[in-house]
Amino acid sequence: MSQQYLIPTYARQPVAFVRGEGVWLFDENGDKYMDAISGIAVCNLGHCHPAVSRTLAEQAGQLMHTSNLYRIPAQEALAQRLCEISGMQSAFFSNSGAEANEAAIKIARLFGNRKGVAKPTVLVMEGSFHGRTMATLSATGNSKVQEGFTPLVEGFIRVPFNDVDAIAAHAGNPDVVAILAEPVQGEGGINIPDPGYLQALRQLCDQHDWLLMLDEIQTGNGRTGHYFACMGESVVPDVLTTAKGLGNGFPIGACLVAGKAQGVFGPGTHGSTYGGNPLGCATSLTVVNTLANEVVAGVSAKGEQLKAAFQQALGDVAMVTEVRQKGLMIGIQLDRPCGELVNSAREAGLLINVTAGSVVRLLPPLVISDAEMQTLVDQLSAVIRSFANAQEVA
Ligand SMILES: Cc1ncc(COP(=O)(O)O)c(C=O)c1O
Repeated sequence: MSQQYLIPTYARQPVAFVRGEGVWLFDENGDKYMDAISGIAVCNLGHCHPAVSRTLAEQAGQLMHTSNLYRIPAQEALAQRLCEISGMQSAFFSNSGAEANEAAIKIARLFGNRKGVAKPTVLVMEGSFHGRTMATLSATGNSKVQEGFTPLVEGFIRVPFNDVDAIAAHAGNPDVVAILAEPVQGEGGINIPDPGYLQALRQLCDQHDWLLMLDEIQTGNGRTGHYFACMGESVVPDVLTTAKGLGNGFPIGACLVAGKAQGVFGPGTHGSTYGGNPLGCATSLTVVNTLANEVVAGVSAKGEQLKAAFQQALGDVAMVTEVRQKGLMIGIQLDRPCGELVNSAREAGLLINVTAGSVVRLLPPLVISDAEMQTLVDQLSAVIRSFANAQEVA
């Protein structure tokens, strides 16, 4: 096989997997790798979770797709379950995270236009990531994602992350209609805001009749130790977007609304051919129920255990400046670019990611066991240690 016929948008690693089970992936030669990135925060229940695979197979044999021209009971059930969990009021289903955010941005525009706002504008954060479509890359706070794609979509103002005053400074701007933020920035480097940040955003939105829109595409579905990260801060946003772990590998996203955003979209304002089809919703309902009933409660303790173990194992490596952690989102901050760690870890049988240049990002399946966590700490610490030693010699 060759990559010749693929548009080369990805710098792929030279490995292909043929089977997965729990936290493990197996390549074409039968070699085994621990997946500490979960397909980028997707396989929160691990690879090929039996209940998820069973639901998917059963639903595939019964009915896959009908379109949103008709009622879809599995879609209604999934919407109800997500709303019961989160305190949101209704859901629109998409096929990806970027599409869920597109729905959010359209809601903000519609909300503003209906209020007679001249140029509805969304406050967005430095260091954020919201997707690769034109509107979501325009909202994204990373110039590399935007490079070459001008003209960008207008209607966004960027402010520093975790800075309430920087947002409050826009209170007098009559064009502002919403704030869009991640509760923890994932692609940006596992940036965790101060406690109370989300509540402060909620308060500003209430004061100024803005929508609070939280991008929980990476932080959602149990990743931070609550089903959605905002629940850990007792915050109910007006718009909550999610995807990734929602399908555990089946492509599905959701834009949930409540409060001021409830009722903004009506018939004809938005749509998707595939979005919320029977196959995706039946599968996702099993994912959501399994996460909520069996998995989420244990995530915070696992994350804290991993953080402590990494701090202990890497405490004497001067190059490691910080270990950041919220649930099972873990960032090991190095004092220099360390992209090559991805290759050396993989050669040692461990799949990791480096983001923001110098942050080792770990997003292991939430079902990771104690013994597997120990393997992760031992293997990764050895890889980081030998990187540090090699750098010192050089
Ligand atoms: C916070 C956040 N928002 C949006 C997206 C885009 O999601 P998708 O790749 O499914 O379009 C991502 C993907 O990494 C993300 O982490």
